[in-house]
Amino acid sequence: MNYSDYYLLCRDVWPHPAPPVETIYEDPVVRIPIESFDKSYIENVLSLSAGVKKDFDLMPADPVMTKHINLWKYADEIHTICDALVPYLEEKRFGCHLYVDKIYIYRTAKLEAPKSSYLWHYDNNPAEIVKNIIYLTDVTELNSPFEYMTNPHGRGIIFPPSRRGTKMWLAAPNGSRLTEGQLQELVQQGCAPQKVTGKIGETYSFSNDAIHRANSIVEGYRDVINIRVKPTLEKAPSYASRAYTTGFDVPGSVNPNPEVAWRAIK
Ligand SMILES: [Fe+2]
Repeated sequence: MNYSDYYLLCRDVWPHPAPPVETIYEDPVVRIPIESFDKSYIENVLSLSAGVKKDFDLMPADPVMTKHINLWKYADEIHTICDALVPYLEEKRFGCHLYVDKIYIYRTAKLEAPKSSYLWHYDNNPAEIVKNIIYLTDVTELNSPFEYMTNPHGRGIIFPPSRRGTKMWLAAPNGSRLTEGQLQELVQQGCAPQKVTGKIGETYSFSNDAIHRANSIVEGYRDVINIRVKPTLEKAPSYASRAYTTGFDVPGSVNPNPEVAWRAIK
């Protein structure tokens, strides 16, 4: 089964009103209105930010991206943040149960030349896999804003992934990086890049296949937590858990079978 079919099944069992099925595909990059969340959200972002800054300041900096390897040190903050963010995504974006399968905490770097995630790319997991980037520092044009490509209507654009589930699971052309020719074509079609700046706590939700990139640091530093969600038929006991939420310790590809959710098929 492909993830798109599994997503429809997940929507069928969702017991509440649901947004249109097109929502996550046609408007794949959105700001999350965190002002509507309980104040514990920003309090826990601030607490996480302070802890993570200390950790990174003590670690040798990686030339491309410094990765946090002990995310469960911040279990309390993670649970509080997910308990606000994920229900919002369930109700307003997906119309189905979700769980957190991956969390990355990292600090970007100053690069001589862009490479890796600093090049325009899509992650090439199925489009229903959605990442949520939360800034742990104030972010301006100078300290590594997240950037995504928009269509002439100002909406994000999904690059059709070559990994969609058990019926289609192929390696991405060019390592899922866009070529110069593809970028020029997008610009000719009226597409334009959009940088995301904002205060600490600013939260953006984006399909992992939205065309996006990180920017190099010019001045300062930027820490983020990136929380990735997956549709699930059965509600998980908690949104994130050591039992099924991994970090940089496990590769970023999802299982080709969407039914292998937080609990494997019985
Ligand atoms: Fe990416």
